[in-house]
Amino acid sequence: MSHPSSAFTYLYTSPYQLVPMVVSVRPFFWSLLSLLISSSIAKTSFRPKALVLPVTKDVSASSPQYVTQIKQRTPIVPVKLTLDLGGGYFWVNCEHGYVSSTSKPARCGSAKCSLFGLHGCSEEKICGRSPSNTVTGVSTYGDIHSDVVSINSTNGNNPGRVVSVRDFLFICGSNVVQKGLASGVTGMAGLGRTKVSFPSQLASAFSFHRKFAICLSSSPMTDGVMFFSDGPYNLNMDVSKVLTFTPLITNPVSTAPSAFLGEPSVEYFIGVKSIRVSGKNVPLNATLLSIDRNGLGGTKISTVNPYTIMETTIYKAVSEAFVKAVGAPTVAPMAPFGTCFATKDIGFSRMGPAVPAIDLVLQNEEVEWSIIGANSMVQLNDVICLGFVDAGSGPSTAQVGFVAGGSHPMTSITIGAHQLENNLLQFDLATSRLGFRSLFLEHTNCANFNFTPSA
Ligand SMILES: *[C@@H]1O[C@H](CO)[C@@H](O)[C@H](O)[C@H]1NC(C)=O
Ligand SMILES: *[C@@H]1O[C@H](CO)[C@@H](O)[C@H](O)[C@H]1NC(C)=O
Repeated sequence: MSHPSSAFTYLYTSPYQLVPMVVSVRPFFWSLLSLLISSSIAKTSFRPKALVLPVTKDVSASSPQYVTQIKQRTPIVPVKLTLDLGGGYFWVNCEHGYVSSTSKPARCGSAKCSLFGLHGCSEEKICGRSPSNTVTGVSTYGDIHSDVVSINSTNGNNPGRVVSVRDFLFICGSNVVQKGLASGVTGMAGLGRTKVSFPSQLASAFSFHRKFAICLSSSPMTDGVMFFSDGPYNLNMDVSKVLTFTPLITNPVSTAPSAFLGEPSVEYFIGVKSIRVSGKNVPLNATLLSIDRNGLGGTKISTVNPYTIMETTIYKAVSEAFVKAVGAPTVAPMAPFGTCFATKDIGFSRMGPAVPAIDLVLQNEEVEWSIIGANSMVQLNDVICLGFVDAGSGPSTAQVGFVAGGSHPMTSITIGAHQLENNLLQFDLATSRLGFRSLFLEHTNCANFNFTPSA
């Protein structure tokens, strides 16, 4: 079931290159997951309804990262991880500071290894895969291990009893792959569409509905929140009750910095059909909005890209329509942004800068993701910019693959974290749909979860 290590291509990608990997493709072995992980729950009669984790906006690195904290190992220690919505795996640095009496390697040929799909096998007969730092684009190779992970359960209102998963699977990262993560962060929590992502392992361990929700705070001072399983998600009100839904789309071709040829993408794509600014349709090349058979085009959601990145013709059309609708003069832009105004020319309201909404029109004309001023604009003192980045202005981040030899991004629109803040996003893996709602419209925000434990 495992692969000889010679079939595994070691990767060390430069941030801006898409490195095609040529590896023989074998069938996936997606069986046994529930059996493996649920049988490893600590024996207890307590069945959690849902789990909750804090999400901190960390500004200690060159661009914001959204960081959660779990507890892992024996003796148990807190472990900080950067969230990677489209990441397939949980990886943590094992090279530095990993001490645990309960860490176990996954033996080549075991069902645990096959949960990772295609993988390698070391001389010590431990299976492995690439841990990817999607912030920097660096991938290495690492052994797969399992260890105890403990997380707070919740009834949706506050943290409750702590529950543990004894054999939570992860890939061992190293110092070089950790480099570039926020201060004190030693790994990444992948939330993507694999059998071994955080949501999948937790759903299997506790027989949850295969759903999770993220809510990113706009302030480093107040934590946002992440839930596993169904609502209620109480942020001064049950925000699981006010969602709009759109189908999640699978890209048949991986867009990750490191993947095997033939693997589908594990990132979350949605079907943006058109874009409106101030209610008016923006003329776009619609071909760019769908995903072609080579995996190019379409719209994905990312928590590691700080700002939305648009293919250059889409960026130019949206920016032009936006400037016209704002009706104020533009000023010299401030990188990485290309469209800026004088702050004094823009009014402010409870919803942030008073600018026209940018609407992503989804499965039909009635379903739209409306991006309001608080999410569309970034203020840099006396200059305020449209918080979108032109992919054609040069690769600005590692997370967007570029088609070889050009500035044409693989994915036409990558919705970045600034545009996600104070929106509740619920990913339902069983029905493959996304629920979303701007919490500004509900007069609440992502920092309103009560993290004081119930007595
Ligand atoms: C559970 O939540 C409390 C309160 O937020 C926190 O102090 C504690 O560290 C959490 N426990 C785990 C295992 O994460
Ligand atoms: C629209 O985009 C597609 C994909 O990049 C390209 O092949 C096509 O030439 C474009 N059409 C126009 C009219 O620019």
